[in-house]
Amino acid sequence: MARAQTFPKDFFWGGSIAAHQCEGAWQEGGKGPGMMDYCTAGSYGVPRRFTKELEKGTIYPSHEAIDFYHRYKQDIALFAQMGFTALRISIDWSRIYPHGDEEQPNQEGLDYYKDVIQTLIEYNIEPIVTLFHFEMPVQLVRKYNSWLNRNLIDFYLKYVKTVVSEYKGLVKYWVTFNEMNHIDPQTEASDFFVYMLAGLTYGELPGDKRESLATIGYNMTLAGVKAVKLIKEIDENNIVGCVFGIHPIYPRDCNPINVMNAFKEMDRDYYQIDAMCNGKFPTYKIKEYEDFGIHLEINKEDAKAFAEGQIDFIGLNYYQTGVSKTGEGHEDDEKLFGGVQNPYLKQSKWGWAIDPIGIRYLLNYTYRKYGLPIMITENGLGAVDEFIDGKIHDGYRIDYLQQHLSEIKKAIVEDHVECFGYLMWGPIDLVSATTGEMKKRYGFIYVNKNDDGTGDLARIPKDSFYWYQHIIQTQGVEL
Ligand code: BG6
Repeated sequence: MARAQTFPKDFFWGGSIAAHQCEGAWQEGGKGPGMMDYCTAGSYGVPRRFTKELEKGTIYPSHEAIDFYHRYKQDIALFAQMGFTALRISIDWSRIYPHGDEEQPNQEGLDYYKDVIQTLIEYNIEPIVTLFHFEMPVQLVRKYNSWLNRNLIDFYLKYVKTVVSEYKGLVKYWVTFNEMNHIDPQTEASDFFVYMLAGLTYGELPGDKRESLATIGYNMTLAGVKAVKLIKEIDENNIVGCVFGIHPIYPRDCNPINVMNAFKEMDRDYYQIDAMCNGKFPTYKIKEYEDFGIHLEINKEDAKAFAEGQIDFIGLNYYQTGVSKTGEGHEDDEKLFGGVQNPYLKQSKWGWAIDPIGIRYLLNYTYRKYGLPIMITENGLGAVDEFIDGKIHDGYRIDYLQQHLSEIKKAIVEDHVECFGYLMWGPIDLVSATTGEMKKRYGFIYVNKNDDGTGDLARIPKDSFYWYQHIIQTQGVEL
């Protein structure tokens, strides 16, 4: 058989968005308050804040976002015009169970997402649905202590059962969690990520901070494998994955100790994938926790849940690579540059290293480890766009995507990695998760909204819109 020359015929071409970054309408359709509704805007170098109460005069970007809630039909029509064959959306838990612990779900929320999904299907766009993308009813944090409490697993499973049963036959591809890997006692997961993922700040974590982080990571992983089993019980045709945000870590140099340390830094992002692919929570992790004096609450039945809940595919969000923080013989560089930058790579305006080869490396590394199909569930360039003669000529974005896609093509064609989809992050401009800005734009479609909340929300295709349309039409042969 001749070697494939390009992407497979049934490859998913599309994009990824998340409810709290695009929907807005935070008090409509019976939605309850979500954690992200209490998150202020920030900017590069100015962290977003979570406030206990809403502050007068402060901007909370999720409240209006880009108003996808009212404009999804128009937005999906634009995605269809580009030729999308898949769109990854997330469901906001607080639209389905406004406070998280109700007996009955909110039918208006279920109807809203049903219409979004049906609209996608009408355009032959495969809906890929993430069940948790940092969207969490506030009450689950304030009343129950979020994922530190094992009851959260049951609330989550109830929500999953409601949603998956409701869309049976309409949605086949499910994602249990987005990027839970950022929660780990050994990483410097910022307060912000812990808040987004688990709804708690370090300050609010009761007891030992590292033990709390380990517990949150364990409980979410357990919830993830239990959800896999449940989703397949509802419909055996369902295909279930989990999404991880991984930036490969390169060593400072070939000094073996630096190589070892870089490996360890990168390896920390994989224990949950191990747990979800190998049928058991890794013993090495439990032992490592014991070494740190961390005690996990593990029930007897948990082992069965891990054995029964293996995922079908791995979703990878890739934006950048990093350089190991520890580097013997490099103490001075660190002082000099105030951080570890890779001298071979350029950076985006937000300091993210642009490394197309990194995506091929990540695909190879992960595929060789597990042999499971992989979907690139996020990738893209956050940049400032400016109008020239009424148009946005975003050649920089085209270059970025072109280079990354051509490395993915090499991974598929030359390295035989089973990669079955590319979902560009933020195909329409939306709120940045880490900074809350609109100015950090990823889209093929410009949204006329500014950081101060002004703008008429008009949608305007950029040059990259037509570029991606052509790539999809020609199945990436020219990449
Ligand atoms: C990923 C998240 O980590 O990065 C997205 O899953 C996020 O929600 C994306 O938007 C890009 O980050 P940012 O901060 O540029 O929006």
